[in-house]
Amino acid sequence: MATNRTFTMIKPDAVENGHIGAILEKITASGFRIVALKLTQMTVADAKEFYAVHSERPFYGELVEFMSRGPIVAAILEKENAVEDFRTLIGATNPADAAEGTIRKLYATSLGENAVHGSDSDENAAIEGAFHFSGRELF
Ligand code: PPS
Repeated sequence: MATNRTFTMIKPDAVENGHIGAILEKITASGFRIVALKLTQMTVADAKEFYAVHSERPFYGELVEFMSRGPIVAAILEKENAVEDFRTLIGATNPADAAEGTIRKLYATSLGENAVHGSDSDENAAIEGAFHFSGRELF
């Protein structure tokens, strides 16, 4: 059964480019309720662990370096059908393929630096949310 929560990060590129406010506005205007939210930075070790599932992929080192190079905004979001609806809202992994109006189409600059993360399953949403937040940080 689908849960109603997903996990997201506004990635270092979008933070550096000043898009935190616009992206959060788009998320809330699209019907997601913010359950947890913080500005934080992953260490290299954090990023390696968070993306361990991709450790055999050729871009793993680049992804870890990028995701640990500066602050991110981590958030847990609530909405019916949250995981699928949020993936639709952010658009394709490569912004060149993302639909008009999606967050990646609007704010991402490349496949490697694509502005936002969205969990790909209910199971991973729970794991990723717990990676960044303790129970008393959820509202
Ligand atoms: S997904 O979201 O899992 O369906 O996409 P996937 O293609 O499997 O990519 C997994 C994460 O790796 C990032 N990625 C890359 N980073 C750097 N360089 C290249 N070439 C590249 N290709 C994919 C992609 O943005 C995904 O990160 P997250 O944080 O999940 O969005």
